[in-house]
Amino acid sequence: MNKQFGINALPDNTLKQIFLRKVEKQDLSAIVTIENQVQITPWSYSVLELSILTDEFYWVAVDQDQNKVVGFLICAIYSPDADLTNFGVACEYQNQGIGSKLLNNLWLYLKSKQIEKVTLEVRVSNSGAIKLYQRNNFVVVGKRKKYYRKNLDNEYEDCLIMTKYF
Ligand SMILES: CC(C)(COP(=O)(O)OP(=O)(O)OC[C@H]1O[C@@H](n2cnc3c(N)ncnc32)[C@H](O)[C@@H]1OP(=O)(O)O)[C@@H](O)C(=O)NCCC(=O)NCCS
Repeated sequence: MNKQFGINALPDNTLKQIFLRKVEKQDLSAIVTIENQVQITPWSYSVLELSILTDEFYWVAVDQDQNKVVGFLICAIYSPDADLTNFGVACEYQNQGIGSKLLNNLWLYLKSKQIEKVTLEVRVSNSGAIKLYQRNNFVVVGKRKKYYRKNLDNEYEDCLIMTKYF
């Protein structure tokens, strides 16, 4: 993948200090920290690391002022389909447009690869993410009952399967 793809492709005055780039191995500990902060059942270091080798699209958002990784997005590509498998922005950086910037960068990449649709799974309780996906033209295409563990008390919640068609 072209490492420069997407950088500066989306000039955004409100997010000047945030730039996007392809993941690097040394980003992993920051990504694990974000993952543990934002996910109820976080991926482990080794799973996130394996993704670097196996998933075609693995990008991070970096706060240039702080020299710090503040968000990431992973997408597996099985042309002409893609799966958005993991996506997170550090809590203190949420609701500032960084997630949207990561998504917009992914759309550019998927369109450049003639991908026809991208699918993801999301907890029914994750109303913030669902709203963001709906604004990005994802539609609900299915549901998995009691798919996600909710806590350590053997409680589970449903998963929505959402797809965006290009
Ligand atoms: C889902 C997630 C990645 C979104 O990242 P984010 O950076 O907060 O996303 P954005 O800031 O682009 O968008 C979130 C909201 O902030 C709003 N927003 C965007 N820019 C903004 C700004 N400059 N000022 C205020 N609000 C802004 C967006 O309009 C959006 O509002 P909406 O939900 O009403 O549509 C993040 O919330 C997260 O990490 N959640 C926990 C993990 C998770 O749920 N991952 C997805 C699993 S499927």
